[in-house]
Amino acid sequence: MTDWILRGGEVIDGSGRPRRRADVAIAGDRIAEIGSVGRAEGAREVDVSGKIVAPGFIDVHTHDDRALFATPEMAAKASQGVTTVVTGNCGISLAPLLLDEAPPPPLDLIGDSADYRYGRFADYFAAFDRSPSALSAACLVGHSTLRVGAMNALERPANDTELAQMCERLQEALDAGAVGLSSGLAYAPAARAPPAEIETLARLLRPARALYTTHMRNEGGAVLDSLDESFAAGRAAGVPVVISHHKTIGRENFGRTAETLPVIAEAIAHQEVGLDAYPYIASSTVLNAAQAERALKVLVTWSKSAPEQAGRELSAIAADWGVSEKEAVDRLQPAGAVYWTMDEADVQRVLRFEHTMIGSDGLPHDSHPHPRLWGAFPRVLGHYCRDLGLFSLEEAVRRMTGLSATRFGLTGRGILTVGAYADVTVFDPAHVADRATFEAPMTPAAGIEHVFVNGRPVWAEGKPTGERPGRALRRQQMQAEASS
Ligand code: ZN
Ligand code: CU
Repeated sequence: MTDWILRGGEVIDGSGRPRRRADVAIAGDRIAEIGSVGRAEGAREVDVSGKIVAPGFIDVHTHDDRALFATPEMAAKASQGVTTVVTGNCGISLAPLLLDEAPPPPLDLIGDSADYRYGRFADYFAAFDRSPSALSAACLVGHSTLRVGAMNALERPANDTELAQMCERLQEALDAGAVGLSSGLAYAPAARAPPAEIETLARLLRPARALYTTHMRNEGGAVLDSLDESFAAGRAAGVPVVISHHKTIGRENFGRTAETLPVIAEAIAHQEVGLDAYPYIASSTVLNAAQAERALKVLVTWSKSAPEQAGRELSAIAADWGVSEKEAVDRLQPAGAVYWTMDEADVQRVLRFEHTMIGSDGLPHDSHPHPRLWGAFPRVLGHYCRDLGLFSLEEAVRRMTGLSATRFGLTGRGILTVGAYADVTVFDPAHVADRATFEAPMTPAAGIEHVFVNGRPVWAEGKPTGERPGRALRRQQMQAEASS
């Protein structure tokens, strides 16, 4: 029985193929019909003429592990047309880890000690099953999370006993349904992990047909070495690698994506490699002196010791306090920041690269977050696609749907076709735009009209509907569906 008919829109199916005029019928959690659909008893009709009907967007780079529970309507993402998030990026996942003391940065980006309460990955999934959010989630296991759980000191390689314990927990997570392992080798908890440690863990991914994503050790002067290290890990373990939020940072590295992208393209010719990017020249993570020093400008996004400073520039805070910026960084700890570290030409070059998936890298618990949290997807569709013409709309949609679903093994999602899960985003191509800014970062986007997850509406008339049809996307189940 048909539940919804989206009538008279232009379907962009997520594969990159040209749009076509078609109605879309939804029955239960599936796409029932695409084409000229007759009226059906009991079906709700939505007039979407002049609008694009696309697969729901997949945010492949998120830190939404806790947000799925804390803000189950997931307005930051649903308002952008996102229907699935990939959690656990950059080496940090909420599970598997029990903590009774404050998590070391950057683990504190996603939660406090009390939030780290899932000793097994299966417990995290079970909690999501009991209390689902509006959106679906595919989950990565964080290498730094594994380290914090297994080691009493992080500024060294893991010894054999610790590594064995990390392997055991990773295996449990994979058995529970995690889609892969992420690393954050640039961050203190993992910076001393040698390539061999990653390779040992990554070997467990192969029998599971899971993947490895990495926030590389270096995105500055040594970015090419870090690319080599990442590809080598993938080859050693025989698994696909995703380079997270690809960029080259620091003024002296402006323009160097002209070097990195051909290197990535060359690797893709020999092994499975993907990459994601967010459409901004500023990055965001925990506040630390080294990164602040290198940035052209720094905006504080949260601070536990001086919460009232969130949303202000570091230089202004230091001036107010009559201290150096370095001293101000110390006094604000623990804290987060936005760093202006990239060149616009690099951002555009990475976005134009045919293999780049879109990921927001949004930080949902910051009090004054980077606007990518609420704006990444509409910014690609509006600013970069329609206004600057970096690529066709069909290509923009592919980079946030079909390409991403293939890479992460999200069976039945990412392509709008009969029989697929009814994850659907309807947007107005003339008006879609990000409205979140660095000053007002939590402003919902314009032009996202209807968002369906598993056949149920989660976003309509500019607000969440309150429905929570999201599912935990377990790897084994998706693999079984792919082969059936
Ligand atoms: Zn990262
Ligand atoms: Cu990240």
